[in-house]
Amino acid sequence: MSMHFSLLFMILVLAFLMGCALSQAQGLNTSYQPSFQDDDKADFILNNSYIVLNAIQVTPDVSNGALIVNMSGRALYGKQFKLWSENKGITRASFNSTFVINISPQTVPGGEGLAFIIAADHNLPQNSEGQWLGIVNAETNGSGTANIVAVEFDTRKSYTEDLDDNHVGLDVNSINSIKQVSLTNFGLNLSAGNDTLVNVIYDGKNMTVFVSLRDKDGVVSRRNQAFSESIDLSAYLPQNVFVGFSASTSSVTQLNCVKSWVFQGSDIGDGSNKLLWVYITAPLVTILLMSIAFLLLWKLIYRKKQLVDSYDNVEEEIKGSSMAPLKFRDYSSGIANWLWELYGYGRILDGVDPKLEEEYQVEEVECMLLLGLGCCHPNPHHRPSMKTVLQVLTGEAAPPNVPTKRPNFVWPAMPPSFNASDCSLAGGQLAPFSDMDGR
Ligand SMILES: *[C@@H]1O[C@H](CO)[C@@H](O)[C@H](O)[C@H]1NC(C)=O
Ligand SMILES: *[C@@H]1O[C@H](CO)[C@@H](O)[C@H](O)[C@H]1NC(C)=O
Ligand SMILES: *[C@@H]1O[C@H](CO)[C@@H](O)[C@H](O)[C@H]1NC(C)=O
Ligand SMILES: *[C@@H]1O[C@H](CO)[C@@H](O)[C@H](O)[C@H]1NC(C)=O
Ligand SMILES: *[C@@H]1O[C@H](CO)[C@@H](O)[C@H](O)[C@H]1NC(C)=O
Ligand SMILES: *[C@@H]1O[C@H](CO)[C@@H](O)[C@H](O)[C@H]1NC(C)=O
Ligand SMILES: *[C@@H]1O[C@H](CO)[C@@H](O)[C@H](O)[C@H]1NC(C)=O
Ligand SMILES: *[C@@H]1O[C@H](CO)[C@@H](O)[C@H](O)[C@H]1NC(C)=O
Repeated sequence: MSMHFSLLFMILVLAFLMGCALSQAQGLNTSYQPSFQDDDKADFILNNSYIVLNAIQVTPDVSNGALIVNMSGRALYGKQFKLWSENKGITRASFNSTFVINISPQTVPGGEGLAFIIAADHNLPQNSEGQWLGIVNAETNGSGTANIVAVEFDTRKSYTEDLDDNHVGLDVNSINSIKQVSLTNFGLNLSAGNDTLVNVIYDGKNMTVFVSLRDKDGVVSRRNQAFSESIDLSAYLPQNVFVGFSASTSSVTQLNCVKSWVFQGSDIGDGSNKLLWVYITAPLVTILLMSIAFLLLWKLIYRKKQLVDSYDNVEEEIKGSSMAPLKFRDYSSGIANWLWELYGYGRILDGVDPKLEEEYQVEEVECMLLLGLGCCHPNPHHRPSMKTVLQVLTGEAAPPNVPTKRPNFVWPAMPPSFNASDCSLAGGQLAPFSDMDGR
């Protein structure tokens, strides 16, 4: 049995680490500063977009002399970002997206616009040039199937609802903004070929957009809040989204450049805790069932043997028993002893793989490790029952009370009912056994 419990303990730890790996790595932090480099293109899904001259040209530039009329393009970060999760209600991630855009008209006037987008789909919609800014097209505009939210920088008044040819707007599954503000209010002109520093912040409740002018020397002007709009992104977008940029031209054209980008998105728990318990309990139950089957089989064989052999050698009997001290001495060089020592020093968390870089829930790890120690208790009667183990795993019960010093094995192992009244030694549940050391 000792071997089985060591194995069980290892599996618990492994399953826990797996669960940690699964529930992390959902945040997204990426930085292209002060500018983009050619090999950054490997990080992006680019459709009709290019990384040229240290910037993303979200629609093609004119360096090859080709026509750039009626174009749309998308440049999205290749890995998805976990925007929200369902875990005892909806948890929304927060993010901070900071970028510098530069729009140079190629006709007088120029058009059409550039946008920071959060989208379910990385594919560029067909026929999304012109007024559609690569965000939606005539079919998906106004439809929930568009699954896109955008902060648009529009340089053309393409339809009556468009405020002017120099505005920032918030678009939800539609090219018609739910909120729009003229940049002329802040002395900014998107079409002047200046660098505009934009900061889009979502705190889980409001989408807030700040704009400033950055001059040729990199000096940034006053930070202007364009708008702060309350929006539940989880109502319009799936849990995993792509973030990046889209842009378009029409029969009037412009260069749509993004010169730098820093995106910081927070981690959120992703409800894979449920999955984690499955990962843990499945192997656990298997191992326990195997152990029980093994024990029963072994006892059967042993009983038969008993009938044949006489009890002339007690030591042989002890050695053969599932509770034999010799077997438990196997632990002395084992992981359990090491962990128990750490626990004694109050540093049980030092036993966690440093690769996790503390990206785990302290209480959960501690609970798992304590449970593991509990399962390694030298006295089988003090190990938690199958029922308790499952309750601890599902969070219904607290981890077992484990003595800070690993108790010595005492033969014969005694059930906890062998208490103070049966035995003159008083004290806690475990005291009689350590007091009887050396018997
Ligand atoms: C990304 O950065 C934010 C803020 O700095 C931090 O809270 C978060 O843990 C980071 N996420 C990842 C996956 O590194
Ligand atoms: C660009 O699109 C507009 C509007 O659909 C169209 O009138 C024009 O002919 C197109 N230009 C080219 C060169 O395709
Ligand atoms: C967002 O990021 C920018 C640039 O990285 C930083 O200056 C700003 O303080 C951040 N804002 C928040 C609310 O985190
Ligand atoms: C780019 O988007 C168009 C639709 O607008 C699609 O037909 C084409 O396959 C996409 N190209 C790539 C390389 O994804
Ligand atoms: C786009 O869809 C909106 C509904 O969200 C509708 O009001 C608007 O007229 C449509 N815009 C165009 C240009 O068709
Ligand atoms: C913005 O700049 C462009 C290009 O210099 C110019 O044509 C346009 O009149 C300017 N708009 C405003 C509102 O100043
Ligand atoms: C913005 O662009 C205009 C026109 O190109 C230029 O005159 C002006 O100096 C620029 N402003 C800054 C702060 O770079
Ligand atoms: C959030 O947006 C609402 C309007 O949609 C606004 O009244 C509120 O002030 C905003 N909150 C913050 C913190 O800006």
